[in-house]
Amino acid sequence: MDLKSLVRDIPDFPKPGILFRDITTLLRDPEGLRYTIDFLAQKCNEAGITADYIIGIESRGFIFGSPLAYKLETGFIPVRKKGKLPGAVHSIEYELEYGTDCLEVHQDGLHQGSRILIVDDLIATGGTASATAKLVQKIGCELVGFGFIIELRDLEGRKSLPDVPIISLIEY
Ligand code: PRP
Ligand code: ADE
Repeated sequence: MDLKSLVRDIPDFPKPGILFRDITTLLRDPEGLRYTIDFLAQKCNEAGITADYIIGIESRGFIFGSPLAYKLETGFIPVRKKGKLPGAVHSIEYELEYGTDCLEVHQDGLHQGSRILIVDDLIATGGTASATAKLVQKIGCELVGFGFIIELRDLEGRKSLPDVPIISLIEY
């Protein structure tokens, strides 16, 4: 299936000069959505990834991370933006294009030695995924891979990620 044809390009969103890769058009397509999850699961299996938990990064990482967890028969753990999780959290600050942001995970959600697959819809600069990886590794989990639907190759985000399998389904 031509997944790329289901992604809509919107110029100058959220600011001038950014070509936004909009996945809502893929999500609303029943066959496209099913194929995306099945294909991502297949690629994880082919890469030999065995995870205990999938971590989905707020917010679009939740959309793909949970059905993938269902399919791969793992648990799902949300990594959220600052102040959203109700329990005690581990936090990590990371650099954005302008300023910093903060990601958090529940302290009792992750344990030393758990095998973690990090999932998000898209990797651009890699800042978000790399901060999540640092958070996971700081806790002592074993990072076993990354899964993305879209990779913006020009931005070389994968260079900022640790040396584990990195799966992406659509490249620009
Ligand atoms: C987008 C996307 C990734 C991140 C990728 O999320 O879903 O999480 O940016 O960019 P990076 O590789 O340069 O870090 P965004 O922060 O827009 O949040 P959202 O998913 O809540 O829309
Ligand atoms: N997140 C970061 N860059 C993006 C882009 N170009 N399209 C959609 N989401 C993004």
